[in-house]
Amino acid sequence: MYNLILFGPPGSGKGTQSEKLVEKYDLVHLSTGDLLRGEIAKKSPLGIEAKKLIEKGQLVPDEMVVGIIDNCLEEHKDAKGFLFDGFPRTVNQAEALDRLLGLRKMAIDSVLALEVNYDELVKRILNRGKTSGRADDSDEEIVRKRFAVYHRDTEPVANYYKEKDLLKIVKGSGTVAETFEALCGEIEQAV
Ligand code: AP5
Ligand code: MG
Repeated sequence: MYNLILFGPPGSGKGTQSEKLVEKYDLVHLSTGDLLRGEIAKKSPLGIEAKKLIEKGQLVPDEMVVGIIDNCLEEHKDAKGFLFDGFPRTVNQAEALDRLLGLRKMAIDSVLALEVNYDELVKRILNRGKTSGRADDSDEEIVRKRFAVYHRDTEPVANYYKEKDLLKIVKGSGTVAETFEALCGEIEQAV
């Protein structure tokens, strides 16, 4: 069993790298952003609620994403491991994740944090906004709001894992292939 958190600001490449990592290491990919966009597409009550917040660049309530993660852990009882992408995003979510994993006799093994400079992040997101159809990608003011929320609510999560000696910083500004190689290097050291 190997449980990994891929951490990093909006646009740092979490989704891109997750796709490659789950294939190589046979992990279940849990992206709360993707799961919430799935709920929005279905127009479920949760999706309708989430849509209003996501479009403003705000986080959805902790209980909402913790509930989603709890269901997914339950659905994949035979998984070899999980890759958490875009979760946890608050210290409260990180504590809840420890509880959910603890109940199932599991734990987080590594937290890999992608580091990319701000200008490159904004460039990547606005560029993706031309084709992604994501309302939170196309408006510069909303993109800026996402970074402010990241700074205020999500950066402290890195410290939470640093104190547990689980955090490793990985350069995310190279090519997709270079970043993937760096991440694999860290994973192979950890397992
Ligand atoms: P979420 O979907 O998680 O978005 P995010 O964290 O803001 O990050 P992105 O998905 O935009 O970026 P990414 O790091 O995955 O990068 P990607 O690989 O796509 O969350 C969206 C919203 O949902 C939140 O704002 C919030 O409202 C809500 N939400 C989600 N989880 C939540 C939670 N836990 N709690 C509360 N609310 C939550 O890459 C970005 C672009 O760059 C792509 O176009 C890609 O092709 C390109 N790219 C990637 N790597 C490279 C590279 N090396 N070189 C050049 N280009 C690259
Ligand atoms: Mg993503």
